[in-house]
Amino acid sequence: MTQPLIEIKSVCRNYMDNTQKEIYALENINLHINEGEFMSFVGPSGCGKTTLLRLIAGLDRPQSGTISQEGKILTDTHYSRGYVFQQPTLFPWLTIEENIALGLKARKLFDNSKKALIQYYIDMIGLTKFEKAFPHELSGGMAQRAAIVRALINDPKILLLDEPLAALDAFARIDLQKLLLFIWHKTKKTMVMVTHDIDEAIFLSQQIVVMSDRPGKIIEILDINLGKDRKRSDHKFIAIKDKIISKLKLSSHNRIEPEYVI
Ligand SMILES: Nc1ncnc2c1ncn2[C@@H]1O[C@H](COP(=O)(O)OP(=O)(O)OP(=O)(O)O)[C@@H](O)[C@H]1O
Ligand SMILES: [Mg+2]
Repeated sequence: MTQPLIEIKSVCRNYMDNTQKEIYALENINLHINEGEFMSFVGPSGCGKTTLLRLIAGLDRPQSGTISQEGKILTDTHYSRGYVFQQPTLFPWLTIEENIALGLKARKLFDNSKKALIQYYIDMIGLTKFEKAFPHELSGGMAQRAAIVRALINDPKILLLDEPLAALDAFARIDLQKLLLFIWHKTKKTMVMVTHDIDEAIFLSQQIVVMSDRPGKIIEILDINLGKDRKRSDHKFIAIKDKIISKLKLSSHNRIEPEYVI
């Protein structure tokens, strides 16, 4: 069997709240993420999705258990694991191309070939002529496109996306879903995304990890075998959605979070 890109073994993560009470965020998480896969995490608010993504990024450490990349236990952040936040978090005083180039410049890898690569990506995401614009001159969707490219330009092995489209209106969101899919097909990067939008998860993913209410556990990992051209009105699409909703309802003690787009 080939080695997974990321292997999560028996991971637990607790936090102390401000009254020193222990909060069990994640309990006994076991998961393989294979190279080139598009995986999504769905689950109730507060069930540990961001915590899990941050652990994979190396932004945080588990209390127990291990997370490995290609067999090596993670101890820190690394450019090979790119992270996209819910908000674009671009530096307001830098232009779009400067924001995108930041990671390369920090690693002293910026040269003319990278300049051409940045332009290639800028054209691909439809931001041609906005290279010299500042973040405040962009719409939310345009800024998030730039943030995705800022992570991609470092040529990561895996792109971790924490509700990257949540702040967008419905039309911009559908546009960016298509763009993410296009980027995934084009670059063959491994992508792991957190979303509250079940349709979005089914539209994009090969695997969906359904998580339970806190302490977050994996209830089920669904393989989404719907092929490339997915239609939200397709009966197979709707059947998967129903299955996920019923799993979430069961795990939430018959309560479903109102923020779920269903
Ligand atoms: N740094 C921290 N300090 C204390 N508690 C934390 C910290 N980070 C997360 N938690 C707690 O861990 C639990 C899981 O948080 P997390 O942000 O991972 O949830 P989530 O599934 O991403 O939620 P949402 O869908 O609302 O974004 C929550 O109860 C949260 O309060
Ligand atoms: Mg979160």
